[in-house]
Amino acid sequence: MASGQLSRVEALACSGCRHACHVMLYADTKSQLFGKIPIRHIILMQMRFDGLLGFPGGLVNPAEETLEAGLSRELSEELGVALPMSVEDHVVSCHAPASSPSSSRLITHFYVKKMEEEQIREVERAAASTATDHGQEVLGMVRVPLYTMKGGGGLASFLSHSFIGNARSQLVDSLLRLNLVAPEELHKALVHSVKTHT
Ligand code: GTP
Ligand code: MN
Ligand code: MN
Ligand code: MN
Ligand code: MN
Ligand code: MN
Repeated sequence: MASGQLSRVEALACSGCRHACHVMLYADTKSQLFGKIPIRHIILMQMRFDGLLGFPGGLVNPAEETLEAGLSRELSEELGVALPMSVEDHVVSCHAPASSPSSSRLITHFYVKKMEEEQIREVERAAASTATDHGQEVLGMVRVPLYTMKGGGGLASFLSHSFIGNARSQLVDSLLRLNLVAPEELHKALVHSVKTHT
């Protein structure tokens, strides 16, 4: 296991740790941008209240709820849809870098869930209308552009934005692991995003 990573069991055994669960919801799509650029996959992220991009989810208290029930509760608040989450959707847990010496350690649990395109569209509609956190903790859901356009627009530009915690590497790792973007294309986007990052 890579440094900083811990198993679900190890994570839950940590007394005095806080826990946060977030999920990457995605779907395949046949739709095309401008009728010619394949969009391939719809991946949902959100613009947070603090101006940073992150995944939907939030703090969970394992003394009161399972990690998955807590994640599902956060999704109800932030997306306006009660999506059941299962242990099988769990990908990785790791220690977040300490924000201040006094704050208790945070463990972040990351999940991935594949949906149908129409379900994702329903989530987007609910997130913008009935979700209680809309306009509060969550400023809006955004889709991740996976294509690369002339001049580097697309994925490279998206990766140049600012992300909360390690949400950016959670995204990049998932793109690779689930083969949602070809490794060479992802590599090029990463190199270009570093150049344009300010
Ligand atoms: P409150 O209801 O205000 O407590 O917010 P929340 O429960 O929705 O918590 P939030 O989603 O902000 O997540 C809690 C903490 O987890 C944040 O302060 C970040 O440090 C971290 N975090 C938030 N989003 C992500 C993410 O997408 N990935 C990772 N790795 N960490 C995140
Ligand atoms: Mn237009
Ligand atoms: Mn929340
Ligand atoms: Mn949240
Ligand atoms: Mn919360
Ligand atoms: Mn909240």
